[in-house]
Amino acid sequence: MKIRSVEGADYYVISPLINEWWKGRQMSDMLPKLFFDHFQNTSFIAEEEGEIRGFLIGFLSQSHMNEAYIHFVGVHPEYRGKKIGKQLYSHFFDIIKQNRRNTIRCVTSPVNKTSIAYHTNMGFKIEQGDKNLDNVSLHTNYDGVNQDRVLFVKHLV
Ligand SMILES: CC(C)(COP(=O)(O)OP(=O)(O)OC[C@H]1O[C@@H](n2cnc3c(N)ncnc32)[C@H](O)[C@@H]1OP(=O)(O)O)[C@@H](O)C(=O)NCCC(=O)NCCS
Repeated sequence: MKIRSVEGADYYVISPLINEWWKGRQMSDMLPKLFFDHFQNTSFIAEEEGEIRGFLIGFLSQSHMNEAYIHFVGVHPEYRGKKIGKQLYSHFFDIIKQNRRNTIRCVTSPVNKTSIAYHTNMGFKIEQGDKNLDNVSLHTNYDGVNQDRVLFVKHLV
């Protein structure tokens, strides 16, 4: 498995796959081309046999100098459970450390149980919100009206 930085052209391959990879949820609008042009140092593609098997879009926080943020991670449905997500995260963690950042944040929707299980497994903690659903703490209306979110944080050692 090769891990490389994203390029602008990857947008045209990945964008049409996103809604399918997210089980039909309309997610592609949340990942416009700009991420593939302006976050290349902290965004990665996992590739094998010339095919994209997974991707991670992240960045160094512009506001909090010890923090980084993972905006999107996706693995091809046929290749899940093979530690591709984990490899992408490990690579991101290494890059973050090189950039003297030690805190990583990300946000997910409460319906995305896979994402919650995956991030918990990857050592992220759920930040205390204002509501509990199925034992998961939520921040209600975080991304607008009725847009509840689960907030994750991980501190690298
Ligand atoms: C979430 C996602 C990226 C995980 O990728 P993956 O390559 O299948 O995950 P990995 O094989 O690297 O798994 C890493 C760890 O998470 C756990 N994990 C992964 N998917 C899981 C699931 N559905 N339920 C429970 N645990 C899970 C694995 O067991 C593994 O733990 P281990 O190392 O102790 O065995 C992938 O399922 C995906 O693309 N989902 C759709 C997109 C999405 O929801 N992205 C996240 C929100 S942006």
